[in-house]
Amino acid sequence: MAKKITKICCIGAGYVGGPTMAVIAQKCPGIKVTVVDLNQARIEAWNDPDTNNIPVYEPGLAEVVAEARGRNLFFSTAVDEAIAEAEMIFISVNTPTKTYGTGKGMAADLKYIELCARQIARVSKTDKIIVEKSTLPVRTAEAVKSILQNTGNDVQFQILSNPEFLAEGTAVEDLHAPDRILIGGDTTPEGQDAIQSLVDVYSNWVPRERILTTNLWSSELSKLTANAFLAQRVSSINALSELCEHTGADISEVSRSIGTDSRIGPKFLNASVGFGGSCFQKDILNLVYIARSYGLQQVADYWEQVIIMNDHQKRRFGNKIVKTLYNTVSGKKIAFLGWAFKKDTNDTRESPAIFVADNLLNEEAKVAVYDPKVSEQQILGDLNYLQSRNEAKNAELVTTFDNAYECCKGAHAIAILTEWDEFKTYDWEQIYQNMTKPAFLFDGRNVVDKKKLTEIGFKVYTIGK
Ligand code: NAD
Ligand code: UGA
Repeated sequence: MAKKITKICCIGAGYVGGPTMAVIAQKCPGIKVTVVDLNQARIEAWNDPDTNNIPVYEPGLAEVVAEARGRNLFFSTAVDEAIAEAEMIFISVNTPTKTYGTGKGMAADLKYIELCARQIARVSKTDKIIVEKSTLPVRTAEAVKSILQNTGNDVQFQILSNPEFLAEGTAVEDLHAPDRILIGGDTTPEGQDAIQSLVDVYSNWVPRERILTTNLWSSELSKLTANAFLAQRVSSINALSELCEHTGADISEVSRSIGTDSRIGPKFLNASVGFGGSCFQKDILNLVYIARSYGLQQVADYWEQVIIMNDHQKRRFGNKIVKTLYNTVSGKKIAFLGWAFKKDTNDTRESPAIFVADNLLNEEAKVAVYDPKVSEQQILGDLNYLQSRNEAKNAELVTTFDNAYECCKGAHAIAILTEWDEFKTYDWEQIYQNMTKPAFLFDGRNVVDKKKLTEIGFKVYTIGK
């Protein structure tokens, strides 16, 4: 018999744990949802009386949190208590690329997952369903199960895999109307009951035919596969954008032409300065590492090429700026419009802007940055993390602005790194007047009207045109 869930705990109050649990609480008023994290500042921000100050910026999220918080949605640092009372525990902690030891730079670092498993085992005095929400290498559930069974208090655990497919910037929309919910579990009767318990949670708002159930390993691997396929489309179109630049073909026209083939489809065919975000690169590297660890060299090489192409695209954008500005940017002001890895998010993890800026700073450019949602502290933090130069040097060369017009004043070139909608509405004539001439514009997201800006006087470079 599937257990009816009345109390959920989620470990990890980040970009996934926060929004997913807020929506579960919103849609299931009968379930108490407690989101816990070790990071006290983050929890305090989730509890900020003004929901506009919650730590994750997502359109519509503040409203969801306002509706459910204090009713059946709680944010807390009391991890043990929340684990102890819950019937179902989601693990939604970070699984970054390893920075040490075997698999350094490739494999997923599972130390946070293991810590969660050990903590759950230690604290639990009643049977629980453990749900892997984090993106994990295929067969991680085996390790989680082993820890729970060998270090627990003789209570029963069922492990489910329920990867998250939301994209940042559209998280609330994606959670309200997902293409599918994927739930993997054991093929035993107990495993099937656990799957049913989670199906019943999602059935509160997701049509049953959109809830897919599989075995554990298929579910774990499907998440890495989905991200690999999506990133592969971006690298494929970016590879062709370079060919367009040499042949007179226009990448937007090529995308439109192939996207109308229903077998290919129109989405994820926007050429860009390269994909960013916390997951595409990490998950593909992880996939490559797993394939290599099974001795599947060709499989590994095939997927690694997606990353190689993306690195090339980011590098060639920066190089194009230097080359076009007469082979030197030393001492020149280059204005960056956008720092986030995509629009409608304040997330900058693996943002292409970081790598393009680093490239230009190596050439001693003065980088000025405007992003509507990213703070100066975050921008400098992202650059300092690379350790390409000392912090004082970064602070000297990088200036941030809270106004795009000021940011572009006196600049030799503008580089558009994020596709924020507001960039389309600017008074480009005014921006042009205040720039150093010739005024260059490098559009890394194909957002501005090249013809119009060229008429104003800009020297415009757009990807793939
Ligand atoms: P995040 O870094 O924003 O959040 C993770 C949180 O877990 C942090 O706040 C951290 O303090 C907390 N944490 C770590 N160990 C803990 C512990 N032992 N106890 C309590 N809290 C702990 O990460 P995220 O972006 O939310 O990603 C989480 C997982 O979801 C990753 O595996 C990621 O691949 C996956 N994912 C992310 C996205 C996305 O859009 N960001 C989408 C789908 C899947
Ligand atoms: C991606 C996936 O889309 C989600 O399904 C998945 O859950 C998530 O990763 C994850 O596992 O973390 P996200 O990274 O938030 O979501 O955003 P995307 O919309 O996928 O964009 C990723 C990057 O690709 C961005 O830098 C974006 O600008 C770039 N991109 C996307 C392009 O350059 N061209 C496109 O056509 C589409």
